Amino acid sequence: MSLKLDQVGYRYPGTSHGLTDFTLEVQTGELLAVVGPSGSGKSTLLKLVSGLASGYSGTILLHGEDISSKPVHKRDIGVVFQSYALFPHLDVAGNVGYGLKLRGVPAAERARKAKELLELVGMGDAAAKSVDQLSGGQQQRVALARALAIGPKALLLDEPLSALDAGIRAHLRDQIRSLQRRFGATTLLVTHDQEEALTMADRVAVMKDGVLLQVGSPETIYAEPANRAVAEFIGLSNILEAKVRGQDEIDLGWTILHAPTGNRLIGATVQALIRPEHIQADPETSAINRVAGHLAARRYLGPVVRYDFSVPDKAEPILAEGLREARESIAISPDHIRLLDS
Ligand SMILES: Nc1ncnc2c1ncn2[C@@H]1O[C@H](COP(=O)(O)OP(=O)(O)OP(=O)(O)O)[C@@H](O)[C@H]1O
Ligand SMILES: [Mg+2]
Repeated sequence: MSLKLDQVGYRYPGTSHGLTDFTLEVQTGELLAVVGPSGSGKSTLLKLVSGLASGYSGTILLHGEDISSKPVHKRDIGVVFQSYALFPHLDVAGNVGYGLKLRGVPAAERARKAKELLELVGMGDAAAKSVDQLSGGQQQRVALARALAIGPKALLLDEPLSALDAGIRAHLRDQIRSLQRRFGATTLLVTHDQEEALTMADRVAVMKDGVLLQVGSPETIYAEPANRAVAEFIGLSNILEAKVRGQDEIDLGWTILHAPTGNRLIGATVQALIRPEHIQADPETSAINRVAGHLAARRYLGPVVRYDFSVPDKAEPILAEGLREARESIAISPDHIRLLDS
């Protein structure tokens, strides 16, 4: 039951906004997280798949079948939005059983199924409650139960947790992930919370301005971002402009570092990506890529310290993170410097 988008193009009428040449496959049972800045087209992607927007070019296949001519309710897609969007005139069980009712499932069977799903999302005793008696987190669990009740071919989650506070969010993350696995649901999860994406997803797709920038495992997206936009969006980083000075040597203006230059030519402009946690505090004087300077700011985060380290001839301090802060010098192992061309 894979979901496959092939060269999908879409424009909101009269605008330049939408999706451009969008190709992506979500494997059967996979949870693929879609991340990107506000306005990058994440919700648009879900609207096209669910049928809430139409008139795109290219093809969208669900389980090998072209969905373009299928009306929304025949697509067998479960959707959960950020705002709870439950039906206020139905009780909790009525909401969960709604899709089954549309499909002609008899009342007794609907009630049984609703009860079963509510148990699964930890809301077993709420079946007869009215929607406005529920907290935000509880409403999202009901919305999830409703989406799963129809045994969907695909599950589309559009920022399902973003309106909730941090504690319940972390708990629901795990719950959604385990239910998604249990149902083997082929899932697109839209979020702008990168931690949510990295922790929940099998793979992460990063988009910007309606274009897919990169898709890969959370580890790949974090450690090997394809370009600057991906690196900036996922995780904290120092992105430092430099020129290739020689084989495995870059000149940043304020220092020269050893870094893997590959087959780039001398003089080529590159961006050196260095994650804060890869900066070593107060290394031995003989350490490779050692840079002297001073501590400019320090933030205690509990398990680690995040700090700014100022170096001579560089206006912006370097952002670093570790068990303790550097006082006099830092070092960056060449293995932890990733050069980007754009
Ligand atoms: N109905 C619409 N008509 C015209 N333009 C729209 C419409 N809906 C969205 N857009 C535009 O399309 C672009 C993508 O919007 P979309 O809602 O997909 O972004 P998003 O990635 O979901 O953002 P967010 O993180 O803020 O939810 C934006 O520039 C937005 O202004
Ligand atoms: Mg959106």
